[in-house]
Amino acid sequence: MCGIVGYVGDRKVAEVLTKGLSSLEYRGYDSSGVALLADGQTKVYKAEGKLQNLKDLLATKEDEIKTANVGIGHIRWATHGVPNETNAHPHTSNSGKLAIVHNGIIENFKELREELEKRGSIFKSQTDTEVIAHLIAQEYKKINNLQEAVRVATAQLEGAYALCIIHQDVPNTIIATRRNAPLLIGLGEGENFAASDVPAIIEYTKKAVYLDDNQLAVLTPNSVKIFDKDNNPVAVKPEMLPWEPIALSKMGYKHFMLKEINEQPDVMRNFLSGKLYSADEPIKLEEVKLDKAKLKDLNRIQVVACGTSLHAAMVGKYVIEELCEIPVDVEASSEYIYRKTVTDEHTLVIGVSQSGETADTLTAVKQSKARGSHILIITNRPDSAMAREADSLVPVNAGIEVSVAATKSYVAQLMAFYALAIHLAEIKESADKEYLKEIKNELLLLPQKIELLLTKTDKIQKCSRMYSSSKNFIFIARGINYATALEGALKLKEISYINATGYPAGELKHGPIAMLDETLPVLSIMMTGKVYEKILSNAQESKARNARMIALTDSTDEKLDDLFDFVLNVPHVHEMVSPIMAIVPLQLLAYYIAEFLGKDVDQPRNLAKSVTVE
Ligand code: M6R
Repeated sequence: MCGIVGYVGDRKVAEVLTKGLSSLEYRGYDSSGVALLADGQTKVYKAEGKLQNLKDLLATKEDEIKTANVGIGHIRWATHGVPNETNAHPHTSNSGKLAIVHNGIIENFKELREELEKRGSIFKSQTDTEVIAHLIAQEYKKINNLQEAVRVATAQLEGAYALCIIHQDVPNTIIATRRNAPLLIGLGEGENFAASDVPAIIEYTKKAVYLDDNQLAVLTPNSVKIFDKDNNPVAVKPEMLPWEPIALSKMGYKHFMLKEINEQPDVMRNFLSGKLYSADEPIKLEEVKLDKAKLKDLNRIQVVACGTSLHAAMVGKYVIEELCEIPVDVEASSEYIYRKTVTDEHTLVIGVSQSGETADTLTAVKQSKARGSHILIITNRPDSAMAREADSLVPVNAGIEVSVAATKSYVAQLMAFYALAIHLAEIKESADKEYLKEIKNELLLLPQKIELLLTKTDKIQKCSRMYSSSKNFIFIARGINYATALEGALKLKEISYINATGYPAGELKHGPIAMLDETLPVLSIMMTGKVYEKILSNAQESKARNARMIALTDSTDEKLDDLFDFVLNVPHVHEMVSPIMAIVPLQLLAYYIAEFLGKDVDQPRNLAKSVTVE
């Protein structure tokens, strides 16, 4: 994981780098650092903890760095070595002249380190990255050409890397290269940039080149040259970045998470636009390249995803099986990739990922592609590595999501699954037309209903305050909302650190009920429909064990007030689309509890937004 950035040009280098790093904090935030070429010397500054610590440090060094015109920066999510100043990047060679920043993991670092130590390298950190610095430095000593030294050194690396490298003997230059980790080059006038992701450079340029695996770029203020792994020049083909800097502002909200929760109705409308205007029309999903014959040829669907995306996939399974008569398996990508799965050309494999960079899901998708499956990717990043593997690419268009806790991307992924299931059912003619019409109509009405919910959050806030001192929390649901229970619990634990678990309500009596007492809140997700009465009975079982009772429901039954201590009402919706409605109050509950407890809502401890390591 981690984020890297590089700049060569006339602006205040430290400022460009720290601004860039701040927009990459979703990739990690446990330490950070920069290296600058100033007054003919490589100068390195690092700080443990939040990026602000590095900014404060740099503010005291203005005199030392004012002549810098080249620099590289890093924000870290620790993999090898604890998060401290020594392990923070940039890492340097023995002489300190060469500095590098790295995103990725070097798998053969131990062997390389032993070799390098024998040849005189002196290591300061416990990181895998430091071997790259020493390896390039040793090659440079032999051939006295930095570009070639980087090429020869990276050919010896196993694993994933995106790298920016500077050397005080090679002024005005950054070398950037990548394999299995993202890196783009931003093109400016008299200045150039390198970064792990678009937000780091979008303030300065909208013109960029995405480096391919094993390509190497040489950046100076007035030129960018790109080479393949054999050192042949590659044509620089810039593309325009579609991003707006405004997307990175909190727009008056206290946290990005709250802003992103409130954006959900627009995200849903945005997703539907161009696809569904009227329930009487078939849904248009031209991105899906599966015709009737291909669908007939499919005997199963496998969905691979992690975290919140996995929960969206669980809802997707329910909807596709309900409407399309195709069996669907959903599996955590990290499990899928280390076992023998029955996957072939008759399998449709769906990869779901907000970032499109999650390493486990990317590997799962690549493995299935190699077995001949049609790959359908649902992602918020149509420019990501995963998107590039797609035979069918369904972008969810939620806009940039900054908060580590996924909210609007989840709702957008759910929309994508509904659209996909309806689309496949319409091609296969596998569902009743009136039933499909009902669901389409509900999807069209949902944004307005959620808007209504978002204007009345007083009761959710009150509930959050009441239960914020709980050490544990249980969410129960059945049927299509079982995934909602898991997602509600995940939101709460990741931002408030309360131990929260989601269970299928019918499973409570098979073990978890033993934990219930008067201290434990049990939140029952009771959306009206097939399993409403069943879950009501399960809630009663909890009441009989003196649990603290909370209901989330679209029912207007007043008797619920007798059973529950707290009833969170939401507008009534069709059961099939109820996961979209039900998750919103749970996102808010998690948000207000974490906020009330004074937690770091947008950047919870130990996490990163984009998990690019297996
Ligand atoms: O980018 P992805 O959707 O592939 O990310 C998967 C998970 O890492 C992600 O959903 C994570 O669980 C979030 N922090 C949940 O809020």
